[in-house]
Amino acid sequence: MEADVTEGFDIAAQPWGARAKARCDLLGLPPYSEVEGQLTRRFLTPAHAAALDALTRWMAEAGMSVRRDAAANLIGRYEGETPDAKALIIGSHIDSVRNGGRYDGPLGIMLGIDVVEALHRAGRRLPFAIEVVAFGDEEGSRFPASMSCSRAIAGTLDAMALEMKDAEGVSVAEALTAFGGDPDDIASAARDPRDVLAFLEAHIEQGPVLEAEGLALGVVTAIAAQKRLMVKIIGTAGHAGTTPMNLRKDPGPAAAECILALERICRAGTDGLVGTVGRMTALPGAFNVIPGAIEFSMDIRAETSAARDEAVITISAEIHAIAAKRGLRAEVHLMQALAESPCDPSLMGLLEEALADLSHPARRLPSGAGHDAMVMADLCPVAMLFIRCEGGVSHNPAEAVTEADCALAAQAMLHFIDKLERRERA
Ligand code: GLV
Ligand code: MN
Ligand code: MN
Repeated sequence: MEADVTEGFDIAAQPWGARAKARCDLLGLPPYSEVEGQLTRRFLTPAHAAALDALTRWMAEAGMSVRRDAAANLIGRYEGETPDAKALIIGSHIDSVRNGGRYDGPLGIMLGIDVVEALHRAGRRLPFAIEVVAFGDEEGSRFPASMSCSRAIAGTLDAMALEMKDAEGVSVAEALTAFGGDPDDIASAARDPRDVLAFLEAHIEQGPVLEAEGLALGVVTAIAAQKRLMVKIIGTAGHAGTTPMNLRKDPGPAAAECILALERICRAGTDGLVGTVGRMTALPGAFNVIPGAIEFSMDIRAETSAARDEAVITISAEIHAIAAKRGLRAEVHLMQALAESPCDPSLMGLLEEALADLSHPARRLPSGAGHDAMVMADLCPVAMLFIRCEGGVSHNPAEAVTEADCALAAQAMLHFIDKLERRERA
């Protein structure tokens, strides 16, 4: 049995801001990671369950009643003045990419817990409840699609998403059942828009802009559109030693051409177009076998769905042409599409006023990274607060934030809540 590093952690001894960061650090290793010596916490794994246990304890200590919904979201609720008050949902994701950083996602949850704890300690009730949510699947690092937890809350999760399988052939529905969730009752996780006031997500910027400008915080204007494709180039498996080069049907060089084509298309694109091949598998996968097929992912994003879609159409046509030229066959499957998602102008205004209270400039910036907020935007108005991270590095164990920036972010969130309260009482 692994030692529980969160046992005996003296929360009260941690200063404001340092605590949120320290909690993310505590969850950076086993049992909160699947892998020794690094942070890999994928959806519906024992590491995910261990992290939810720690969060449950911290949420309860901060004055929240805590529950899990059918989709494995962890939800802590701090009641408002009346039990039926609408909720301001504050949250982010607790899952990570493979060998990821400790703050991408968890920091937004920890800051939410800190903010609630401050209200609780002050004995303050608001005209709205606050719910802190830990979404389980923002990264999509286990199953091909992502954001199934926030989609379930927003009521936009389609049944097909539950049938998707991981690399071991386990479906989301099977893994969810083993985790204690309920795929057959997934609809019960959907929130009634009439019960939700707004969604606020604090997140590291994952880019270099704030640091370059010497700013701790930024207000997000919109989140980029993205599409995930799975591509398969199919040839003929054969002997690596006996098949002459001119008689091969090798999908490997074709896959290489496809990656170069994606790079060329995105370099020539507009509206912040970017494209990435982050995963590639040669089948069957051996030194001495010409692969029978190569499978690879494509992640394509832009500030507008139009620019993204134009790139997807162009690359899909090129993939088929590259394969045909070499006597191969290509399949291109769309795994996920997320439209660009603007943040709510009036909530952005409140965040800017909160920053002004702290004498911090109101720097607005878009997000190239995806966030649960883009899915929550289907349910309610959303706002996002960005926090500077060192060197803009993310999806990398070197991810780093300062305690001072975390403290300022928590204060900004409290000021935002003050302003929302004033607006709701008006
Ligand atoms: C998540 O971090 C994403 O942008 O894909
Ligand atoms: Mn991420
Ligand atoms: Mn994230």
